[in-house]
Amino acid sequence: MSNSTLKNLLFGTALVIAGMTSGCKSPRSSGPSGTSSTITSNAQPAKISVAVNQPGHKISPTLWGIFFEDINLSADGGLYPELVRNRSFEDSEKPDFWKLSNDASGNSTAAIDSSRPLNTFNTHSLRVNVDGAFALQNEGYWGMNIVKGDSYAFKMAGRVADGFNGSLTVKILSSTGAELASGEISGLDGNWKYHTLELTASGSDPKSKLQISASGKGTLFLDMVSLLPEKTWKDHGLRTDLAESLNNLHPAFMRFPGGNWIEGDDLAHMYHWKTTIGDIDSRTPLWNTWGYNTTQGLGFYEYLQLCEDLGAEPLFGISCGIALGDKDVPLSQMGQWIQDALDAIEYADGPTNSVWGGLRAQAGHPAPFHLKYMEIGNENGGPNYAARWALLVNAIRAKYPEMKLIATSSLQNGSHPLNPRPDIVDEHYYESPESFMRRATQYDKYDRKGPKIFVGEYAVTQKAGLGNLRAAIGEAAFMTGMERNSDVVELASYAPLFVNMNHRAWNPDLINFDSSRWYGIPSYYVQQMFSENRGNVTLPVQVNSPLAEVAPSKGMIGVGTWNTESEFKDIKVTSPDGKVLFASDFSQNSDGWKKLGDGDWSVQDGALQQHAEKEFVRAIAGDKSWTDYTLTLKARKIGGREGFLILFHITGDDDRTWWNLGGWNNTQNAIENGGTIDPKPGQIETGRWYDIRIEVSGKRVKCYLDGQLVHDVNYESDGQVNALYACASRDDQTGDVIVKVVNTGASPLETQLDLVGAKNLTGQATATVLTSASRLDENSLAEPTKVSPKTVAVNFTGATLTQTFPGNSFTLLRLSATK
Ligand code: AHR
Repeated sequence: MSNSTLKNLLFGTALVIAGMTSGCKSPRSSGPSGTSSTITSNAQPAKISVAVNQPGHKISPTLWGIFFEDINLSADGGLYPELVRNRSFEDSEKPDFWKLSNDASGNSTAAIDSSRPLNTFNTHSLRVNVDGAFALQNEGYWGMNIVKGDSYAFKMAGRVADGFNGSLTVKILSSTGAELASGEISGLDGNWKYHTLELTASGSDPKSKLQISASGKGTLFLDMVSLLPEKTWKDHGLRTDLAESLNNLHPAFMRFPGGNWIEGDDLAHMYHWKTTIGDIDSRTPLWNTWGYNTTQGLGFYEYLQLCEDLGAEPLFGISCGIALGDKDVPLSQMGQWIQDALDAIEYADGPTNSVWGGLRAQAGHPAPFHLKYMEIGNENGGPNYAARWALLVNAIRAKYPEMKLIATSSLQNGSHPLNPRPDIVDEHYYESPESFMRRATQYDKYDRKGPKIFVGEYAVTQKAGLGNLRAAIGEAAFMTGMERNSDVVELASYAPLFVNMNHRAWNPDLINFDSSRWYGIPSYYVQQMFSENRGNVTLPVQVNSPLAEVAPSKGMIGVGTWNTESEFKDIKVTSPDGKVLFASDFSQNSDGWKKLGDGDWSVQDGALQQHAEKEFVRAIAGDKSWTDYTLTLKARKIGGREGFLILFHITGDDDRTWWNLGGWNNTQNAIENGGTIDPKPGQIETGRWYDIRIEVSGKRVKCYLDGQLVHDVNYESDGQVNALYACASRDDQTGDVIVKVVNTGASPLETQLDLVGAKNLTGQATATVLTSASRLDENSLAEPTKVSPKTVAVNFTGATLTQTFPGNSFTLLRLSATK
């Protein structure tokens, strides 16, 4: 029996006391690691005690919100329901997403034209050199969702030259070419003019397309060709089902418009809200770091309106003058950024006789939007950020002292600016399920005198599939800790929110959609369950829990890079008995290696080379069932910012269990497995071959560089996790006691629940349970609610009940009480 299998059978007992008093620390035993007799003697029944008669602090009413980022085509191609893709022809120097076809005798051509733009913000238009009969088609974002009986507003700007005097036929066609709606446009002349049609569909097809056809001779120019559904959510221009999917989460706030998106790839691609307001055709399209051009149809005004319609506090994230890769605007030129921040507040909240408040009123909203939260930057840190933070905060506080200003924390070391003191600090976590479970107690120890916390982005991203139950269970465990400590955690939001399933730039994502359908991953239901059952005041809980089983350690090996070019050779995997399990052969090719991420791989001189300076680039090989082994190889850095990633125990494409050499901008070596383990100063020299050796045995890993032992650690950074995590609260309106319990173990756990000091319980309760047959189960378009909560009635007498929590489950108990 391997060590890992043995460990898998072991249980110990841990005790968590949480939230008994504000700021208390949680004693947490790591439990025994030894023999079966220890297990038996330590096995205590699982028990949760809720001090119903000792209510704690108020729960932050803004605790559970959402974070909308324009990522994964979540705005264009998603919530903003423009059906035409590349309507303003700004995507590139070619008419991307438009197809021109001629009839047998026709010879028309189409190209981008910049000779006489529609306006200064939209420099491109489409020029069709008309020669006979032609048809232009646009399929939108993998098909347009057209619904029988619904009306669609068609609008385009057009002009003609060189004698073209034909009319245009505009049709909506099904994917098989059947006509669903049709109209005519005539009267085009030599000047840009808008033309509109209302098209009502005679049939439905989620993969429809738009066609514009004509015949004749001459030149036709088109711009801003738009097809929008007339039915939108609350008549405010957004896709109804997707807006409803947000509304069903009852978010208390919405952070927008993004993280990396507001930073931009460089100074020219930072997000500036002023280019996103006003007439749709005078907004400036912008290349989005997530791989597409953004129309800005979902602009600052629409975001604020969406917040209002959701009943959510707006939380606006503004660029701090630092782009991705730490490219920054010189301090002496920060004036525009400061002015932008001040004007954003005036636009949202200022009087209608102010410049920017007036523009808001003109857009249709004279009343203020009540913007109270503003975040400066995204994931920035260090002295460059501190200097820009100070400039922006001093200016904003001088004019708007009530504004709650949020600082970001450094991705490198978690630090945040101290001067001026932030009201709130934003922390981001993308980790494994177990790391999240361990984080369930992190705020129990948080300094109550420091700034409040905004967990602005969090999600289980490792071993998560496309969003599986286990990931949701990890997040639920963490959320019990945030709710229990919501005297300091004021706001929290999962990330990212949306993905158009045809453009997945990040995984997992809470809400997956195509042109006509959506589903929530299991994490969606965790968010909903917490948000709908927040309660008003915490009730202290004491949890006696066994330790959860440890998943067996096993998996493939791999090599990778982060913003670096490197090469690898002589890669060998040997089992403890000396058997060679794997030996690389790069004499011809790299067959058998699975490439992950945006890499540029080739083989040369018997080595596997990676030439793209991108993040998170990997090549993996071997067998997922390998447990204990020694991995040896040679690695050499060719260029770039960091060193190498040497992967081990990989079971999924997104796993990040690796030895990071020369990480953190070539400053340190560490094991990473959801957290950073055993960091040591270290640098990788360019051009030098290194000998690397990794020995794994169960969760123990020994790492050697050029024969020197660098790490000898357990790569689960902080030992085992508990089976049970819990928090409790009281709903002041109903008097209900709400207990949220997560069982992270694989097996059902019978648990005694004591409601200490409860006098007015009715004996009636409901248990809403999120679980599934396998921890890896996911939802999909075909089975959208496969992993979704089910509610059952529970009856009990007195103030104690015994409840069995299924393995890998999140249970919400609502115990009714008379007030
Ligand atoms: O949520 C996806 C991305 O993760 C955000 O853009 C960024 O802030 C973070 O790194």
